Amino acid sequence: MKKNNLIISEFLDDAFNLKSHLVEFLSIKECDLEGFLENAKMNLANLHPGDVLGNVSDFYTDIVGDRHLADLAAWHITSKDYIADTLKLQQRFSRDLVLDFGGGIGTHALANAMSSNIKHVFFVDINQTNRKFVEFRAKKLGVENKLTFCRTIKETNIKIFDTIVCLDVLEHLADPASQIEIFYEIMHSNSIALFNWYFYKGEKNEYPFHIDDSLIVENFFEKLQSKFLEVFHPILITTRAYKKFK
Ligand SMILES: C[S@@+](CC[C@H](N)C(=O)[O-])C[C@H]1O[C@@H](n2cnc3c(N)ncnc32)[C@H](O)[C@@H]1O
Repeated sequence: MKKNNLIISEFLDDAFNLKSHLVEFLSIKECDLEGFLENAKMNLANLHPGDVLGNVSDFYTDIVGDRHLADLAAWHITSKDYIADTLKLQQRFSRDLVLDFGGGIGTHALANAMSSNIKHVFFVDINQTNRKFVEFRAKKLGVENKLTFCRTIKETNIKIFDTIVCLDVLEHLADPASQIEIFYEIMHSNSIALFNWYFYKGEKNEYPFHIDDSLIVENFFEKLQSKFLEVFHPILITTRAYKKFK
């Protein structure tokens, strides 16, 4: 297992070998990779069908395909200092059994799996391509024994987690308040949950898939403020740490 500062510096070097993992997993030529990553954000936004989409989660299961890999990879590479700060935060709080809900391309789950503070990481993501890609990456990085891949929390068969990581996911859910209530039920009194959210579609509708309905957002904050107590951390990012409010 690696020392925590080494994990951060390996992420800052090459995002845990992300580009070479993409080339091999997607069977694309190295020279085509930059094109795949360029414009990824707008390509993903353009895929969204708008208000006609009945079920929010259909976007991630049926529509995005490997486009979300491109979008997330481009973001983690171009915003690596920000992502590294979220990894530092995760290192500060993560231990033992971890749930990474909506784990995307796996940066946080893989970093946790590399850490000696962690017994096992359950990577839950509704998108099959993401699950397969992170499973592939885990094997490449030699941490596959510390990761399990599931579509839902129920599939993990774990009743209580010590750590929950849910980063940049809540704004993608039809009902974020119900989701954090589910998290509450699978935490013990010393568990820590890391949450952030961005209930905003963007100035130019760059994030048409983000929930911004004021009632849904108000319900979310009511639930958060009644069920969770914030735990201070000094890292200057929007992600917050919570424990259960007694
Ligand atoms: C913006 S990405 C964030 C990925 C990662 N947490 C990060 O910080 O890079 C949102 C992720 O949530 C997943 N997701 C969306 N709805 C979900 C659901 N209902 N259950 C599990 N995962 C979901 C998507 O497939 C996607 O991987």
